[in-house]
Amino acid sequence: MMNLAPELRAAIEKAGQSHLLEYSSELLAAQLKEIDWELLPELIANYVVKKPQISIPEDLQPAPYFPLVPRNKEEEEKKARAQALGIELLKSGKAACLTVAGGQGTRLGFDGPKGTYPIGPVSGRTLFEYFAQSIARAEEKFGAPIRWYVMTSALNREATETFFRENGNLGLREDQVFFFTQGTMPAIGYDGKLLMSSPDSLALSPDGHGGTLLALRKSGALEQMKKDGVEYISYFQVDNPLVPVVNPLFIGMHALEKADMSAIMLAKTNAFEKLGNFCVTNGHLEIIEYSDLPAELAESRNPDGSLRFISGSPAIHVISRAFVERLTASGKLDLPWHRADKKIPSVSDPKPEAPNGVKLESFIFDALALAEKTLVLEGDRAEMFAPTKNPTGVDSVESCREMLIARDLRRLRAAGVKVGGDVKVELSPRRVFDDEDAIQLAAAQNLEEISSGTETVIG
Ligand code: UD1
Repeated sequence: MMNLAPELRAAIEKAGQSHLLEYSSELLAAQLKEIDWELLPELIANYVVKKPQISIPEDLQPAPYFPLVPRNKEEEEKKARAQALGIELLKSGKAACLTVAGGQGTRLGFDGPKGTYPIGPVSGRTLFEYFAQSIARAEEKFGAPIRWYVMTSALNREATETFFRENGNLGLREDQVFFFTQGTMPAIGYDGKLLMSSPDSLALSPDGHGGTLLALRKSGALEQMKKDGVEYISYFQVDNPLVPVVNPLFIGMHALEKADMSAIMLAKTNAFEKLGNFCVTNGHLEIIEYSDLPAELAESRNPDGSLRFISGSPAIHVISRAFVERLTASGKLDLPWHRADKKIPSVSDPKPEAPNGVKLESFIFDALALAEKTLVLEGDRAEMFAPTKNPTGVDSVESCREMLIARDLRRLRAAGVKVGGDVKVELSPRRVFDDEDAIQLAAAQNLEEISSGTETVIG
């Protein structure tokens, strides 16, 4: 018999999960204590027994956004003000970085935390190193500390921390990196019973990046931010080394608009590009996943032939700390769940041949609908989005490396350096945070020309 409080036992029975009480394990007992037994029957009824129909609201419209190239004087002035404000905010230490790195990177087929993937086109520097070095340079540039919050899952926390430890904390100060772990959700069989992965443990999986918000509170990260005077969280995914770790224009625009949560949008390359779509319904901004947007909407066009739902999400956000405080004040967070049908190994079926149950995840961008004020800013894909999702093809290691090289070559050319053909160059993110840094570096190294066929790291 497991040592469980009578109320907990009763709650488990009431939730229709008495099969769990037949096991005896300390680990299981601890896991059972963490589950919201009142909520569970509702989740099972709405997401497992019934397959939730993704309903597309009738009033769905494409979301408005602030364009990359200002259309008039007013926008031009606003952009300049936002840029200046963003720099001010960074100089006064009001921003922190947040990377979600809890995913399992299954598509990449890489064994280990995705952040440890050697993405550097010439150097082989890892995704984590890209971000760490860029943060170090941004800090130096703006003259104020920038703390880095790294969210892992229970599955990769230890491996992630070990990687940082074994690599000198990637050049960052000991207390500059704040690791925290997202929550888990139990996998549920099609019969509505929680699955056991072994006689000792439930089958648990990460609760999706929506779990970030509560995890920020529970881990003390929010408190730390408050202590540091941080107001703005620069959020990005671990798979995108091209992202500016802090973006003065974006932070400034978010602050100027007094937004709770903001998002970068990119013009999609085609109707079905695998990006979330920015939409507005009932006065609220929403991201509808590529898999959920009906084809006729995805393909619908404006009179000039452009895609109506043109705005894709690279998952780059600025989130106000105060907004996260507000959303999580009760210790719970009401984000919708998203269902994924999976083959889940369990004690009764260690190698299922067909999906046998459901994993539930929440998505951080669903918080946009809960915000009073949001802002969408158009970004330049070539300067901020090169996701590493697959080994080859679209959104792959190959395409990501090509984009990193292209960005660095553009910076070198803008710095007046002549570049020959077939050059593979990587500017060290520790030295180059932006175009201005590239100019300084080229001048400091008297770099005038890079001859054809060169393969080198500069900086
Ligand atoms: C995601 C977005 C999509 C966006 C695209 C841009 C979702 C559901 N969709 O798609 O709208 O256009 O990125 O690249 O996110 N993660 C966690 N914990 C989890 C699950 C994921 O930290 O429980 C992290 C991953 O480590 C990764 C990120 O979230 O950094 C995105 O996860 P991924 O599964 O790669 O999402 P995509 O389907 O590629």
